[in-house]
Amino acid sequence: MDYAENILGTIGNTPMVKMNKIVEEIDALVLAKYETFNPGNSVKDRMAVKMVEDAEAKGLLKPGGTIIEGTSGNTGMGLALAAIVKGYKMICVMSDKQSKEKMDILRAVGSEVVVCPTDVEPDDPQSYYSTSRRLAEETPNSWYVNQYDNLANREAHYESTGPEIWKQTDGKVTHFVVGVGTGGTISGVGKYLKEKNPDIKVWGIDTYGSVFKKYHETGEFDEKEIYPYVTEGIGEDILPKNVDFDVIDGFTKVTDKDAAVYTQKLSKEEGFFLGNSAGAAVKGLLQLKEHFTKDDVVVVLFHDHGSRYVGKMYNDDWMRKMGYID
Ligand SMILES: Cc1ncc(COP(=O)(O)O)c(C=O)c1O
Repeated sequence: MDYAENILGTIGNTPMVKMNKIVEEIDALVLAKYETFNPGNSVKDRMAVKMVEDAEAKGLLKPGGTIIEGTSGNTGMGLALAAIVKGYKMICVMSDKQSKEKMDILRAVGSEVVVCPTDVEPDDPQSYYSTSRRLAEETPNSWYVNQYDNLANREAHYESTGPEIWKQTDGKVTHFVVGVGTGGTISGVGKYLKEKNPDIKVWGIDTYGSVFKKYHETGEFDEKEIYPYVTEGIGEDILPKNVDFDVIDGFTKVTDKDAAVYTQKLSKEEGFFLGNSAGAAVKGLLQLKEHFTKDDVVVVLFHDHGSRYVGKMYNDDWMRKMGYID
């Protein structure tokens, strides 16, 4: 018999899928690391379980405890699955720009959801960073995950996502392209791949309104780069400890409109029903096309599933209201 002991045993070993029509103008083999096959429908299941197991091992998370995290949805889903299997309570703190579907999905897997305003400074007491910390201080027997600075996040990708990409491409991968939020995915995968072959290039996808690209290029944390944006899952107004700028060769920024339009295109042209950061990633990949040549093997990682965006990027009324389509 071949079965998993519980749902957490099905995390990882996701497929790699060749991209065709949407990347026609790119003169290289482009492969999608298709992370929605994880049980929580996102790559974040990997790091969620790793962070929980790391906290258990360090004695930070104790039996019957409460896990508290500020999350744009996907990490919360992975943590909620771990909480169910391991017997913890889960509280997710979210900003109000996140889709309603993400909030409903977290409640569906037994999580309490606390919603905070988006348009406040990170150190404002109402921000989702401050609220998560305060709840963790006030709740007895609780553990604040902090996916931004918790380095078990990038270790998960160093231990699982990176080796899978290396093995699935038979060591032929030449470029890795991925959206950057906490930085866990790009830093863990990037470190693993560069240890295997230092010539592999690692590109991050950033968004307008985020500090990453300018910081990487100049070393300056420029507050003028920070303003509200629509794209979900990528870009930051802080520098998370999980971002290892040394393994990143460059960033390209994608507009909110392009990210939304390319989210729809991925679905209609490839049958890839994926989230908003996948649209940003594929548009960013096209912006980088002059970096790729015929024999290159370019891997782009897609974080999450389209079902979380049916009220937004997959809703033409919303797309028209935003001015993204006619
Ligand atoms: C949909 C989505 N895309 C991209 C990212 C960025 O991934 P990472 O946090 O590993 O940089 C996230 C992380 O929150 C996400 O939820």
